[in-house]
Amino acid sequence: MEDKLITTAIEMLDRAYVPYSHFPVGAALECADGSVYTGCNVENASYGLCICAERTAAVKAVSEGHRDFKRIVIAGNSEDYCTPCGACRQFLYEFAPGMEIICLNAKREAMKTTLSALLPHGFGPEHL
Ligand code: THU
Repeated sequence: MEDKLITTAIEMLDRAYVPYSHFPVGAALECADGSVYTGCNVENASYGLCICAERTAAVKAVSEGHRDFKRIVIAGNSEDYCTPCGACRQFLYEFAPGMEIICLNAKREAMKTTLSALLPHGFGPEHL
């Protein structure tokens, strides 16, 4: 399953709409029931409206009734592992503060971590 999730995230790189940054990102998000939601970054001429691959996938999952995120694979085409930006960490934290995160680089090497490691002491619904 993990291999398939990785392949799916890499395939999503081709769907990225990145005329401004030329930095494609693909994501594949697996939920507790095994369902998978994909995402890519989608940019806009009004730069501030660009949305990341991770949030695309998360919004697709939640809007289809799936909030129980298990893990996400994030694929980039750069030398460094493509780690989620701060906004995406916070966005995912809302639903699954302990979820697994697998970051890929251009060589398709994987770095495995967790959201708790990337966003310690995050702010969540329980704080309100
Ligand atoms: N981006 C993502 O989609 N996910 C990340 O984790 C990092 C950044 C996108 C946003 C923008 O379209 C491009 O990568 C460059 O920042």
